[in-house]
Amino acid sequence: MRGLRGDLPDKGAVACAPGKIILLGEHAVVYDRPGIATAVSVLSRVSVEPSDEFVLVNYGKALRISLDDIEEMGREIDEVVARRDFETLRIIARDRNVAPLYVVYVVSRSSRLLPAKIVIETEVRKGMGSSASVFSALALAYARYAGAEVSGEEVSAAAYAGDVVAHGGTPSGIDNTVVTQGGYIRFRRSEGFRRISAPPLPLVVVDSGEEASTAEMVALVRAERGRDPEGFEERMNRLASVVEAAERSLVSGNLSDLGRLMLEYYEILSTFGISTEALDEIVKTALSLGALGAKPTGAWGGGVCVVLPRDAEDGRRLAEEMREMGFDAFSVTAGVEGVRLCSG
Ligand code: PMV
Repeated sequence: MRGLRGDLPDKGAVACAPGKIILLGEHAVVYDRPGIATAVSVLSRVSVEPSDEFVLVNYGKALRISLDDIEEMGREIDEVVARRDFETLRIIARDRNVAPLYVVYVVSRSSRLLPAKIVIETEVRKGMGSSASVFSALALAYARYAGAEVSGEEVSAAAYAGDVVAHGGTPSGIDNTVVTQGGYIRFRRSEGFRRISAPPLPLVVVDSGEEASTAEMVALVRAERGRDPEGFEERMNRLASVVEAAERSLVSGNLSDLGRLMLEYYEILSTFGISTEALDEIVKTALSLGALGAKPTGAWGGGVCVVLPRDAEDGRRLAEEMREMGFDAFSVTAGVEGVRLCSG
């Protein structure tokens, strides 16, 4: 058994992590084209306090569990993941406490498994990297509580391990990378991740309220490749050029170019039939209210749209006007810092 259970730290730790948005590149990244993702100012907050029993408060409900049970579950998940038995993993992970407990187990391997009261709170929505955001804050707060020095990479790896469980498969790694590093990240399957140095950006996020299935949307795009392989490659190449140009406008701070490129991305990717009436309505409305650009993000088929205003004040105005029209809109800042220890 790992961990000195008698010797509890006398201090707790609190960590906060941002959410993530894919600015451009969704779906194209599946076909080895580049994408750009960014950390946005919606936060997850995880506090880890000394306690003589292990308590996890998640979704407002408290779960008490023994350290032995956490270790046993952790070892079982290690085995299931090692043999890539994702069907079993998905069954185990139906209990939404399993993935955060696994993150604790993973972190405890390089520190100690100690009893604690852990409270998870998040304002990050589904489709905005909510699980990676929560797991990175949990990994950092728990490691600090247990007295371990962890690098950003270790926090990111623990969040990834949690995401494998929460998603029942092997995600791209973009979510944990963005929420731990913060800022802007360019990613490409064959090249990996690279930081883009660019100033913070005001954005408006508008939630369609529709549930989207990433697997279904990815399958819809793939079906197009079967129908018209040449046209498919040609559209993918156009999407890649838009992303390359957008990276330049992001770095130079040319927001009107960036907005135009977001719209171009929207138009090209819409030809795959993955947009919805609600998403199209959001884009149209945002533009009619003076936005520089707007597009769905993530998997499409529902989920959220990202809207580019002229500046932060314009973003607040746009969000307010869209809310008055009945949309679920809120303004955020993109390019914010990654996971960090935060106070009380
Ligand atoms: O829903 P998200 O934010 O995980 O984005 C999905 C992005 C896709 O390109 C559609 C799928 C993928 O695995 O990259």
